[in-house]
Formats: sequence, structure tokens, C-alpha cells
Amino acid sequence: MCGIMGYVGPRPASPIILQGLRRLEYRGYDSAGVAVADAGAIQIRKAAGKLDRLEALLDESEPPGRLGIGHTRWATHGPPTDSNAHPHADPTTRFAIVHNGIIENFFELRQELVEAGAVFTSDTDTEVLAHLIAEEYDGDLTEAVRRAVGRATGAYALVAMTADEPDTLVAVRMISPLVIGFGEGETFLASGIPALLDHTRRMLVMEDGEMATITRDGLRMETIAGVPVAREAFEVDWDVEQAEKGGYPHFMLKEIFEQPRVVADSLLGRLHDGEVVLEDVGWDADFERSIEKIWITACGTAFHAGLAGKEMFEGLLRIPTEAVYAHELRYRDPIVAPHSLTLAISQSGETADTLAGARLLSERGSRLVAVTNVVGSALTHYSDDVIYTRAGLEISVASTKAYTAMLVAQYLLALRLGQTRGTLDTARAAEVAAALEALPDQVESLLKREEGIDEMARFLGRQLAGTDDIYFIGRGLDYAVATEGSLKLKEISYLHSEAMPAGELKHGTLALITEGTPVIVVNTQQHVYDKTVSALQEVKARGASVIAVAYDDDTEIEHYTDHVLRIPRTMDLLSPVLSIVPLQLLAYHVADARGLDIDQPRNLAKSVTVE
Ligand code: AGP
Repeated sequence: MCGIMGYVGPRPASPIILQGLRRLEYRGYDSAGVAVADAGAIQIRKAAGKLDRLEALLDESEPPGRLGIGHTRWATHGPPTDSNAHPHADPTTRFAIVHNGIIENFFELRQELVEAGAVFTSDTDTEVLAHLIAEEYDGDLTEAVRRAVGRATGAYALVAMTADEPDTLVAVRMISPLVIGFGEGETFLASGIPALLDHTRRMLVMEDGEMATITRDGLRMETIAGVPVAREAFEVDWDVEQAEKGGYPHFMLKEIFEQPRVVADSLLGRLHDGEVVLEDVGWDADFERSIEKIWITACGTAFHAGLAGKEMFEGLLRIPTEAVYAHELRYRDPIVAPHSLTLAISQSGETADTLAGARLLSERGSRLVAVTNVVGSALTHYSDDVIYTRAGLEISVASTKAYTAMLVAQYLLALRLGQTRGTLDTARAAEVAAALEALPDQVESLLKREEGIDEMARFLGRQLAGTDDIYFIGRGLDYAVATEGSLKLKEISYLHSEAMPAGELKHGTLALITEGTPVIVVNTQQHVYDKTVSALQEVKARGASVIAVAYDDDTEIEHYTDHVLRIPRTMDLLSPVLSIVPLQLLAYHVADARGLDIDQPRNLAKSVTVE
């Protein structure tokens, strides 16, 4: 998630902007910059790296001026470099903007501008907007921004300025957040409340589709369509730490509730009428048709996402797929036949075992695609291709939103390969695409239910908080989800749990099931539904306390269970994106009931960069 800061007022702008960006550092970034208007010109200072580098540039020559904008960039389009850092300007530097989000149609807009003679200095989608605003400007910045964003599609927050109107900032919110802060004779703008708390507690959160024209004299709010908007400012009573967590008690809960946005961002610009566009993948259709084996290698949560990927690829593509722990793979002597594709999945892109496993397969001739959340991470340097998960910085050690984003990345790849290889006909491909596009709203509805998946998970969390051994079971994709649900519980609640295929219980583990043993079953895969019910009956007969994750319209499951965590119905193939959510919440509430440090569990690191 990028950081945005703007200022209009009587004080020098750049120190205020830099301070605001520092308050947003916790969100993660890889470059930063400031633009300040003064004496009829715009001065820009920007650099890859941390804010200290930007501060050094400002110390060398602080741009004067009392209006400015600043940005910390979490790269999505283009690596973290000085030229890709924001703010971006038009070629005359009469206009500068900062932007958070993704412009879906930036490639077509860039092509149009290049064909008209425009010269670009960066790889970013943002720079396109700077050119458009300059092109549309006829003396009114608000109108120029209105027309420019009318030509763009996607999710974004942007703030624009021009040397020709040194008292004016124009901001637009289309999904990515923007907050306006009101001081005494000065106005602030930021992508998050923490950046404003040093100056004011009177704020106004912009809504989607709104524009704000901010000058020294005040604020004009309207919709992008030009309809005036009148809303009252509110007093923020959070402290900085609460503000960084968006009001949630822990980053993990905040990140669980960010998943609707993350799933939407993972899909943004990648599905056009059922056709899949993967912007950082360079292979061609011939390669896609030639693939004879898929390797998936990862660790931890990423491996669990890969287990689901295995089911996807074998189900949709009929390509033999092997998911193997990277820490095992790196010491094996894998037989890598020609025409193989390797997915190395890693949120951080820095996990030592995953880097080693991926390189081993790559060195033996497999084409390597990184599925990762961090642009420019080590894994991307070893890979032939990349699919970025776009989950934004994940702060909690326990991975949640990155997991669902990893699933979506694999669904998109499976959909694309299925269409190229003909294993997915048009109708089936359209069905998968439609179900994918419905996921963000389904995750949103799941998290916002009146009867509260969160409340149920909290109730069960308290029940489980005192138990010792908890079992997660399922078949096929439900087993893949069960492995991730078990890890979530273990790593933040310190309770021992174990995941296993439902059919495996009777081969030994059933001996451990006694009165009151908690068994959590994921049961969405209709082709093995009854078989999983049989496993439920086995454990119920031995006194287990059973919690099921099942579809809303499953009226049978409650006959075999004590509690049901319900999810919206989707294609069974896509159910992991939904069925993991109640298990994430369950783990969270067990750990919360046990009063543990949820975001920083003992013994664990966010990225295991050593062997
Ligand atoms: C998951 O909650 C853990 N933080 C851990 O298992 C993690 O998934 C694993 O270390 C892999 O990390 P990566 O995705 O950054 O490679």
C-alpha cells in the first residue's frame, strides 16, 4: 500500500510532508518523493530506497514552497528505482501527481500518448495520468483532473498539483483511501489517518468517486461527475498505534478484513471478458501448450496455497503437478523433464529454502515463475516470469491476505493455461472467470454478515482456547485449506493442531479421538461430500466436538456437527478463497482468548531468510 501526503498552508510544505510519510512507513515501501510548488515552478525530490535517502536530498536543497505532495511507493508496475518513484510529472514539470492503486487501462493510454509523441521516463502507470492531466489542462486543474480520470479505469487515489495554480491541490478517490485533515488555516491530505495525527484530529474520509479541491481558503467536495458533496468532518480519537491498525486491535485482523480488497486487486486488469492478462509473464502460447509437468515449491502458508494450486492445475489442465516443500526439494535430486513449469510461491520472495528449491529446478531446465508479493524481491531475480500477488504489505507474521492472493494468482494462471491448451472450453472458462470476479463481494459479505462469522469464531475461539489437540480434516481442496487452517491456529495460539486428509483418520489417528476432542472439518467439495461426512460420523461416534466449514445452503451438515461456520456458495474449485476466512478468524479468536501476542508470535519471523 503506497503512502500519500499533501499539504496547503502557511508553513513550509516539505518538512510536513516528510513527517507525514514517516508516519506511513509501517505500511512498507521501496521508494519515496516530494513535489513542492514555489515561484511558478514545481520542484521534485525523489529516490528509491528509504525515507532517509529522500531526507538527505531535501537537506541538500530543500525546495521552498507552502504547497506540496509526497509519496512512499509499494511497487506494482515497474521495479523500485529513482525514476519510478513518485511524484510523477508531465514533461514540462508544470504538473505533478502522486497515486496509490492500479490504472487498469494504463497500457492502452500509454500507447495512445506515445503514438502522439509523448516521452515517458518511468515504467509506471501513474506517469500516464500526469501526461493526461497536462493534456487536458485549460486553466482549471479540477476540470483537467476530472477529464483525465474519466479516461482511466481501475482502483486509485491520486493527488495532483500544477505550477499554474500554486495554491491548489486536487484529489480523487476511486477505492484506495484518502483522508483530509483540517488545521488552523491549513489543510492536509493523506492515504492514512496516522499521517495527520501530528497536526489535527478533525478529519474527513473521502468516499469512492469523490473529488476534493483544496486551497488555502478551504475545501470543495464533489463527485467526479461534478455533483457537489457536503459532509461533516469528524474527530478522530485513535492514538497513532490504533490508527496504524485502522482501528483493529491487531494487524492480523486488519489484514483478514482487507481480503475483499486484496482479492479484487489481485484480479484487477487481469481478466478482460474472460481473457487472462498476466503482465509480467513473457512466455508464449507455444510454451503454454508444451508444458508437460508443473512443479510447485514453497514453505509454510505459501506451500499450503500451492497444495490448492496442485488441485487446480490437475483439475483444470490435466497436467501432472507436484507440490513439494522447498526445504525438502533443495536436498533432493529431482528428475526435471523438459517442458516443465515451476511455480515458486513466496510472500516475501526472500525465503532461503524457497530460493534454493526454485533455483535447483530452474538450473535443471524448468521455466521458473515467481508468485510473490514483493516487487524486486530476490525470488524475482532468479525467475523467468513473475505473477505479483498485489496483497500490499503484510505486517502480521501470520499470513492471511497473502494466502488468498496466492490462490487467486494460481486461479488466473490455471484459467489462462486451460484456455490456451483447450482443456477449458469457452463456457467453462466463462464460468470460472465469473466465479472469480464474484469472489471479492463474497469475501466482503462473509466478513460483514449480521449473524457474524466473526462472532461465531470468537465464541468457538473461547471454547477451543483451553484444549490441547485440535484436528483439521478435509478431502482434496478442503484438505489443502485444512492444512492452512491448522498452521494459522498453531502459529498464533500455540495450541497443537494437525491437519490430515479425512480418509486418513481411520488409518491411525482415530485412536486419538476421545470425548470432546475438537475436530474441524472443511466440507465444500461436493464430489467427496458424503465420504467426508462418513469421517465426521467416525469422530462423532467417539465423542468429538465437531465444527464444520460448509456452504450456506448445505442443510445436511448440521446433522453431523456441533457448530457450522457457513460460507457463500461458489464453484467448488474456488471455495478455498472463502473457506479459509472462518479458519483465519477462528485462529485469531483462540489466540486472542489466550491473550497472546498475535502479530508477533514467539519464535517466528515474517520471512525466514536463513536455512
Ligand atoms: C505463515 O503464516 C508463516 N508466516 C510462514 O509459514 C510463511 O508462510 C513461510 O515462512 C513462507 O514465507 P514466504 O511466503 O515469505 O516465503
